[in-house]
Amino acid sequence: MSLGRLIITGVSSGIGKALAEAALKAGYEVLGIGRRSCEAIESHGRGQFFQVDLTDAKAVETIPLTPADLGPTILINNAGTIGPIFSTTEVEHEQLAHCMHLNVVAPMRMTARFLQEVEGEKQVYFTGSGAANYPIEGWAAYCASKAAVHQYTEVVAKEHPDVRIHAFRPGKVDTPMQTVIRESSSTAFVDKAHFVEAYEQGELVQPKFVAEKLLEVFVSKTEIPVIFSISNI
Ligand SMILES: NC(=O)c1ccc[n+]([C@@H]2O[C@H](COP(=O)([O-])OP(=O)(O)OC[C@H]3O[C@@H](n4cnc5c(N)ncnc54)[C@H](OP(=O)(O)O)[C@@H]3O)[C@@H](O)[C@H]2O)c1
Repeated sequence: MSLGRLIITGVSSGIGKALAEAALKAGYEVLGIGRRSCEAIESHGRGQFFQVDLTDAKAVETIPLTPADLGPTILINNAGTIGPIFSTTEVEHEQLAHCMHLNVVAPMRMTARFLQEVEGEKQVYFTGSGAANYPIEGWAAYCASKAAVHQYTEVVAKEHPDVRIHAFRPGKVDTPMQTVIRESSSTAFVDKAHFVEAYEQGELVQPKFVAEKLLEVFVSKTEIPVIFSISNI
């Protein structure tokens, strides 16, 4: 019997890719979901990929979430975007809507389907962010989207006390998203120097570290807050 099945959104890079790699190595089945796959999934017998743009609401309904006869099933709503980095008065509606759809609406729908359709032992995780609680000028869409994700997690966890449902703050992680942040030219992003400095000082967390901590959480019996920080694990 397999260790269980992980359904991970956003496996082509960063945290999702590192988690897919670590989970396959640990003995899980992995279903990766997103626009692009990764080598680890494509080359592994326990890896599977379903191609979908998560901002396409109709396509999200076609994602196969079952069978659940491979042990416990764990959904990790990870795909996300930093969204438009502009002052709130400059942000275009379409960019805002895209960010909200990918970061909030898609994981909400994935979670609802998962809770309805997947039987047996299950867990749900969301890649949250410190930006949910810490306002960053120029990041209105992202901060608002992650605050929504945290609060959604709290509500679903309350509604389903029998399922482990959490959002995690990964810290500043060395992924392509941080490159986008450092390369932003927006004058509205007044904290940019702080992100560049964190990178140059080697303070970014590696995606592999986040993945390994998550694998510990999946099998841990210890109670943790609904919203937790990877640095506290
Ligand atoms: N890096 C950090 O410091 C940090 C901190 C806090 C939270 N987070 C969160 O961590 C999560 C993962 O981000 P990351 O840092 O690992 O960055 P990343 O490497 O840019 O990963 C983002 C993932 O989302 C996927 N994605 C983007 N648009 C998509 C779409 N329309 N449909 C399906 N998949 C899509 C990307 O794949 P494709 O482009 O191939 O589709 C990629 O696999 C995000 O939710 C992010 O908000 C990151």
